[in-house]
Amino acid sequence: MNILVTGGAGYIGSHAVKRLLTDGHTVAVVDNLRRGHLSAIDALTTIADGRLAFYEADVGDRSAIERILRENHIVAVMHFAALAYVGESVTEPLLYHHNNTAAALNLLEACDAVGVQRFVFSSTCATYGEPAPEHIPIAETTPQNPINPYGWSKLHVERILSDYLEAKALAGKPFAYAAPRYFNVAGSDPDTLIGEHHNPETHLIPLVLHAAIGKRKDITIFGTDYPTPDGTCIRDYVHVVDLIDAHVAILHSLDPNKPGGDRRIYNLGIGRGYSVREIIEAAQRVTGRKISVLEGERRAGDPPTLFANPAKINAEIGWSASCTDIDEVIKSAWRWLEAHPNGYA
Ligand code: UFG
Repeated sequence: MNILVTGGAGYIGSHAVKRLLTDGHTVAVVDNLRRGHLSAIDALTTIADGRLAFYEADVGDRSAIERILRENHIVAVMHFAALAYVGESVTEPLLYHHNNTAAALNLLEACDAVGVQRFVFSSTCATYGEPAPEHIPIAETTPQNPINPYGWSKLHVERILSDYLEAKALAGKPFAYAAPRYFNVAGSDPDTLIGEHHNPETHLIPLVLHAAIGKRKDITIFGTDYPTPDGTCIRDYVHVVDLIDAHVAILHSLDPNKPGGDRRIYNLGIGRGYSVREIIEAAQRVTGRKISVLEGERRAGDPPTLFANPAKINAEIGWSASCTDIDEVIKSAWRWLEAHPNGYA
């Protein structure tokens, strides 16, 4: 298949590109390199066997996107390109609505013009906001009430896709889309060809490992008075390789010719949560290093407990996470960090 991957130089997108190339697909990547890394593309090129085309372009550049879709005879799009810092979205909401919502709309318009029938959009559990305790574990039917512009910027795209599908179905035209909602994506490529490198880094697992390797002095736990067994927040950490495996399974199951159109909304998580303290303990086990821990205030907007009910994707296409042991997730992230202590050069 000829597949367009937006954000293919970023953390999750680059893992998708690696898997698609390994599976024999031909991949065009669009990335504006504002958050992505050219070094990831360089690394992926070494395994591409001529099947990877890279375009430094913005998803919001309509004419560029339409040209890329046509030139590469694209039949499916995986749209990862997005800004993903919750805090930044609160201070820069227009940036998020512009980059995440408006750019996705532009991409879909280009796909419409060219006739692309398969679209996979990376959505997020942030679209659920702070679900009431009776909604934990979180199923896809949980009401979506984002509590920050990041969550809204993704939810708007879900809505746009849904409206577009309805219109295509009414017109008797083929279209299929998926909006997998990610929980906490973690870990790295086991071959360490590519990995997780954010600047700034805000995610728990890389930060804990930075403390273990000595890139930072310590890790601060944001809140120890939550209503959880050890007082710290609980999250569902899904290995990035499993997450991409789900995308591939979804892509192959999409049926644009399904009567009424094909819409797939799936929560992507492992179905159980680990607390911040459990993550730090696991990181100490995996690295064999003592990590200095500070106890700090709660971070605004952090719900106590979030984990997925992944039953729907399992029932419909047979996917479940193969890596449910947090030590294994952390081990892969540690291997990447040891091999690339400064991330991409
Ligand atoms: N945490 C700390 N100390 C740190 C960093 C994080 O205690 O230095 C805690 C957080 O408070 C949270 C947990 O570790 O309880 C995980 O935090 P992350 O920042 O790694 O991830 P989040 O759960 O905040 O964010 C994830 C995704 C977002 C998504 C959000 C939805 O990364 O893209 O879930 O709630 F929007």
